[in-house]
Amino acid sequence: MKRIKIETEIVVFETEAELPVQVKQLVTQAKQARLKAYAPYSNFKVGAAILLDNGEIITGNNQENASYPSGLCAERTAIYYAKATYPDAKIKCIALAGGVTGKINRNPVPPCGACRQAMVEYEIKQTQPIEIYFTGTEGEVLKSCSVANVLPLIFDKSQL
Ligand code: THU
Repeated sequence: MKRIKIETEIVVFETEAELPVQVKQLVTQAKQARLKAYAPYSNFKVGAAILLDNGEIITGNNQENASYPSGLCAERTAIYYAKATYPDAKIKCIALAGGVTGKINRNPVPPCGACRQAMVEYEIKQTQPIEIYFTGTEGEVLKSCSVANVLPLIFDKSQL
């Protein structure tokens, strides 16, 4: 028997002012997209903004449904639109902002497991890491330098 330890690293930006200009703009776009989310059941609105290597920025937000599992997270709404529109573009980074409708949230909202799995598919395909920046509605922004970094023991095509 042996044990394997897996380490990860998250970069903490205490304020948006510490972010590179382009990332700061992406976070702003994620926050703006969040306001247009359709989240009448959870009252938890999430916005995502994706920067592609062709310079395009794609935004998305969570879309809920009376049949709850039919809804979709902000990240996957944005990623699937981005890849449906620009199939050959590489995803450089994703910014994510979330919180309860009408309330301030200072706790950064990390992408859910299903969204990490959707992201890692494209990270592997493009053989270039996708940076993830996530925040609440205000306050610190956390960064993961890749999807793999927040998804150890990835299930991918090599298992099929
Ligand atoms: N949600 C997202 O949009 N992204 C995540 O990564 C976490 C969860 C949404 C799904 C649902 O509409 C609401 O937040 C509450 O779970």
